[in-house]
Amino acid sequence: TSVLKEKASFGIGAAIKTSLMSENGYTQTVTKHFSQITAEWEMKMDAIWTSSTNYQWAGADKLVDFAIQNDLDVHGHTLVWYKSFPGWFKNSGYDSTAFEDHVKAYINTVVGRYKGKIISWDVANEIFNDNGSLRITDCPVYATFKDPIAFYGRCFQYAHEADPDAKLFYNDYSVVIAPGKRNAIKNMVQRFKNEGIPIHGIGDQFHYRINNDKSTLRNGLNDMASTGLLVHISELDIVMNVNKSDSYVFTEAEEKKQSDMYKHIAESYAALPAQQKFAISLWGVTDKHTWLTGSWHPKEYPLLFDQSYQPKEAYKGFLSGLN
Ligand code: G3I
Repeated sequence: TSVLKEKASFGIGAAIKTSLMSENGYTQTVTKHFSQITAEWEMKMDAIWTSSTNYQWAGADKLVDFAIQNDLDVHGHTLVWYKSFPGWFKNSGYDSTAFEDHVKAYINTVVGRYKGKIISWDVANEIFNDNGSLRITDCPVYATFKDPIAFYGRCFQYAHEADPDAKLFYNDYSVVIAPGKRNAIKNMVQRFKNEGIPIHGIGDQFHYRINNDKSTLRNGLNDMASTGLLVHISELDIVMNVNKSDSYVFTEAEEKKQSDMYKHIAESYAALPAQQKFAISLWGVTDKHTWLTGSWHPKEYPLLFDQSYQPKEAYKGFLSGLN
């Protein structure tokens, strides 16, 4: 049977992390089925920027070297995200000018280091609430800017100056199911276009579940494409244990629902205009290692490969939906 990356006319990505690369089956599964990787953690600000004068490159370099050796594209995630501001930076007390000077230096340093090696970046991640308002309480930087969107626009410019060939994305979750958030993103895209700000794509993380409404997902994807930008499904996983029960054991019917949902998402994405397709990236490789277990509840099986790295019904459904 053909594998995902051979069947798709766009990137098929997986979020990976260096701590798992020595596990038998992990890198083999990535190189066989995927054409692209995203760093699950190692390219975030708190993983790299350990103090105002120190950059820690080992993790990011290891992933980039792995990608180059295995002919994989790298999607950079993520330059500016309030949740990954390191403590020393978050609590710096910098005013807006000092804050931005530091962010500009960080973007220039990181994007510059991987110029020509990382094809795309999530410049900004999760700056809106689901109703479309700007995150104010959990993002201290907003309180210091009179126009936060202008600040983020400058971040896109800093990234573009550091690597003019990189595709620059805005990334968020629930984009296709939260109209308020999606409209705020569309308005920001329109403003950036009017102002000549270099933005090339938008991503919905697609952390969804087996009981999401399929037409809502498809319609929301098409609405994202109405911006004319590249569309990235950037962190795909499909929750089965929707009631978060500790003693959850999935049924065959739920396994089929998950497979059908993966097929639907692949079909919906494959139906987008050719020039707007970028990639579908899974947020992990195997059910054995998913961010959902622990943070979500003890039992979750959201990905394409099972705990023994065997392709699941979800893999078959997803493969059948790719063009
Ligand atoms: O902090 C340790 C570090 O000291 C150690 O050297 C390293 C070795 O692996 O691990 C670090 O641990 C954790 C890291 O994941 C690597 O596993 C971090 O503490 C932990 O915060 C980090 O969690 C990640 C989280 O983002 C925060 O960055 C999750 O793996 C990752 O799945 C999650 O992904 C986010 C996306 O970036 C944005 N969208 C939501 C998604 C899920 O929350």
